[in-house]
Amino acid sequence: MKSYKIAILHGDGTGPEVMREGLKVLAAVQKKFGFKLETTDYDLGGVRYKRTGETLSPGTLAELRTFDALYLSALGSPEFPPGVLERDILLKMRFELDQYVNLRPVKLYPGVKSILANRGPEHIDFVVVRENTEGLYAGNGGFLKKGTKDEVALQTSVNTRKGVERCLRYAFNLAQSRPRKQLHMVGKTNVLTYAFDLWDRTFNEVGEEFPDVARKYHHVDACCMFMIDQPELYDVIDNMFGDIITDVGGMLQGGLGVAASGNINPDKGGVSMFEPVGGTAPQFTGLNVINPLACIKAGGMMLTHLGEKAAGDAIEAASAKVAGSLPGLGVNQLGCGTTDVGDKVAALLA
Ligand code: IPM
Ligand code: MN
Repeated sequence: MKSYKIAILHGDGTGPEVMREGLKVLAAVQKKFGFKLETTDYDLGGVRYKRTGETLSPGTLAELRTFDALYLSALGSPEFPPGVLERDILLKMRFELDQYVNLRPVKLYPGVKSILANRGPEHIDFVVVRENTEGLYAGNGGFLKKGTKDEVALQTSVNTRKGVERCLRYAFNLAQSRPRKQLHMVGKTNVLTYAFDLWDRTFNEVGEEFPDVARKYHHVDACCMFMIDQPELYDVIDNMFGDIITDVGGMLQGGLGVAASGNINPDKGGVSMFEPVGGTAPQFTGLNVINPLACIKAGGMMLTHLGEKAAGDAIEAASAKVAGSLPGLGVNQLGCGTTDVGDKVAALLA
């Protein structure tokens, strides 16, 4: 029987609650589809940081490299200064493991009430490919005269030809595999004239290798407008503003409670990590009111990535069905508890 080594990162706040449901669903599909997940638990995040002072040590990072994939709920806690857990654990994992594609599907399921008056599932079905290791997130910058009235703070967007090209090539391949064969690049070529000049030239050069994929371009501000006015324009979007537009995308699919994502290193031997788009929602910890579908779906994306596509598709389909049957997808709107949502998905997969 095929078996995969998976690191389970239980996370902070409501993270462990949604992860419990994700694992419940993974347990259900393993039997049915005939493969095995060998899991190892990690308390990385606020729990370990509080206990030992470790954010992400070189030793832990070396361990994480030995897994077939990482499955994460969410990291971050108001107990610690903003950025400590996010930057020193989450972003560090994404960067060090070179997970250069952040894949974020946006799909409104049948039966889920749309936030847009005149748009339904037939209009909202696209994928955002977010560049995940460069740009403004690269951590390039610093202070001068910190704390004085002459203080200077610099934060430089880093864009490499290699980094831009590999992200775009992934997006073109994805666009080519979908029926509409269309890729929007989203940027800000009219203002950020260096970074997006590089993106724009690379977009057109790489695009020549994909003559059957239509190339389109939107500025990021216009993209935000079109996402809520005419979301049907989009099929695959490539950009470095993906953090921002995928929260909009989350709302288009019924809330962050159903928005899943993958941090993908597509290279041979690369270790990818799967997680919900949303955060830890610490104020709801332990209340059994948070929607676990995003975490469950992230587990499905992980299986597809590992080559277990039938199991991944089954989780996606079961999640869609359960989502469509709930009164709402947000916190306190599920009409049942977090654990019940996991039970419903698992039951459909039994
Ligand atoms: C996300 C999150 C992270 C990001 C934070 C927690 C660092 O908002 O995954 O979208 O900005 O990438
Ligand atoms: Mn975000």
